[in-house]
Amino acid sequence: MSAGPEPAPARLASGLISRSHLGIEPFEMRRPDSLADAAAAVADGSWAHAGGIDVAQRLRAGQAADELVPLCRPPTSAGTGLEMLGEISLGDGCLFIGAAVTHARIESDPLVQAHRPDVAATWRTIGNVRIRAAGTLGGNLAAFHPGYDAAPILAAAEATVVVAEPDGTLDRCSVADLPQHRLIVGCEVPLSGQVVFDRSLKPVVSVAVGDQAVAIGCAYAYTVVIPHGATRTEDVAAALAALADPINDAFATAAYRRRMIGVLVDRCLRAHAEPPVLARDDRMGVPATRPASTQEVAPPDARSLEAAPPARSQDVQSPDDVSRDGAGSTTHVEMHLNGEPFAVAAPPSEMLVDTIRTRAGLDGTRVGCDQAVCGTCTVLVDDMPAASCSTFTWQADDTEVLTIESASDPDSANARGDVASILPAVQGAFAKSSAFQCGYCTPGLILVAAALLARHRDPDRATICDWLDSNVCRCTGYLMVIEAVEAAAAALAGHASADSSSGSAA
Ligand SMILES: Cc1cc2nc3c(=O)[nH]c(=O)nc-3n(C[C@H](O)[C@H](O)[C@H](O)COP(=O)(O)OP(=O)(O)OC[C@H]3O[C@@H](n4cnc5c(N)ncnc54)[C@H](O)[C@@H]3O)c2cc1C
Ligand code: FES
Ligand code: FES
Repeated sequence: MSAGPEPAPARLASGLISRSHLGIEPFEMRRPDSLADAAAAVADGSWAHAGGIDVAQRLRAGQAADELVPLCRPPTSAGTGLEMLGEISLGDGCLFIGAAVTHARIESDPLVQAHRPDVAATWRTIGNVRIRAAGTLGGNLAAFHPGYDAAPILAAAEATVVVAEPDGTLDRCSVADLPQHRLIVGCEVPLSGQVVFDRSLKPVVSVAVGDQAVAIGCAYAYTVVIPHGATRTEDVAAALAALADPINDAFATAAYRRRMIGVLVDRCLRAHAEPPVLARDDRMGVPATRPASTQEVAPPDARSLEAAPPARSQDVQSPDDVSRDGAGSTTHVEMHLNGEPFAVAAPPSEMLVDTIRTRAGLDGTRVGCDQAVCGTCTVLVDDMPAASCSTFTWQADDTEVLTIESASDPDSANARGDVASILPAVQGAFAKSSAFQCGYCTPGLILVAAALLARHRDPDRATICDWLDSNVCRCTGYLMVIEAVEAAAAALAGHASADSSSGSAA
């Protein structure tokens, strides 16, 4: 399959799907060739693009960017400095986590789990399965959003943010002092320490307590950090009393926020005095695609936790992957769509959902919120759920994209690896369990369920809910959906045992 650069106007004009992103102002792509190049561009006002979730939303909301600097999937080979963005490595008394590392990788990376299991555990509470697969540490910090969790967690952990100056030299600052318009390279998290995080009252307030600091999220324009000393309860109480009024908004009054800050800080200080014993949590089950540097520095015990996956070809992108053709530029993208090669020349602002629906003609992928929230538009990119409404098409370059249409061809699906091969079984279980009514959300739910079952063949109900949490269904009340996933797991287990018994008989 291949498609030319022209949009498909008949389909676009038909109003079949949400068109809000058609208002995005044109922008250029600038793939940096070095860390200094990226740092200079960001200092000059270009927008870094990491997971791109916020970038897409801000562009759609009418903000204009002249130039996007893609940082997703940085090269793994050393030489340009850009490889640091994708690294997780052990440094001198600290764990370095690169800015382009995704939430999913932070929560599941063996080095983070071995050295800061508390940080890995708190990170697992961020967003939902799609957000964790795409969102990055750097994007979360640089969004300067009061409700985002990286800043309070890292501030309480006394992490240092590493930024690159426009000339490429590295500088360090605290989370609270993070400057705007600087390229974030990563964070250095001390190897010792313990963070307790309570986000049960989000979006009203969140609190993280570490050995030497309390950090408060959601309540002010940016994370407030209160250092504490030996008499920490008294120190914190005095600092809280001296704070200015928190935000007063539709979620809560300033007075309520102030009161709940006190409640959560008190609760976290007590929990911090008796920290829980944290075990490795593999609920996300994401195979970490760690760069070589992670394995090079990992101690033997950490290495043994997980076999090193081979470097993927798309981790090393050529500068031509996204071309820079001047005004009205075009991106040349090659992916596998439901197992078939699919090439497209599209404007940089084209979203994956439109490529799939209007160029490939696969309209099983639907659009709901158009804001990366509801999950209706979910497709699988390299076997992980992605919000195609908020993923630019060029982000899918050199990936495997699966849509619901993949489920309708079991024979070819079987030949295409784990997730594709179990899709028909999941679809069958949804049909048998009547796990849909209007069916609008169903393609997204089936794809998320297939991605889950590819990682966890026998998930417990908590894990199923954790994954499905990311998809909204207005009709079913969810119970039948959960039961369908359980039925699919049972059906797949039946297949597996039938296969193994026929294999042993042979
Ligand atoms: C439905 C939903 C739920 C969410 N829930 C949560 C939650 O519970 N907790 C939470 O913490 N977050 C949450 N988020 C935010 C999410 O975790 C992402 O971190 C966030 O959307 C931005 O990450 P990104 O990598 O996509 O950043 P991008 O969109 O790529 O970038 C965001 C901003 O940072 C800039 N930027 C990116 N990388 C760098 C860099 N290296 N240096 C300098 N600037 C940079 C960009 O230019 C842009 O201004 C949620 C988001 C959504 C849509
Ligand atoms: S339409 Fe994409 S997440 Fe709602
Ligand atoms: S079946 Fe109607 S929205 Fe889920």
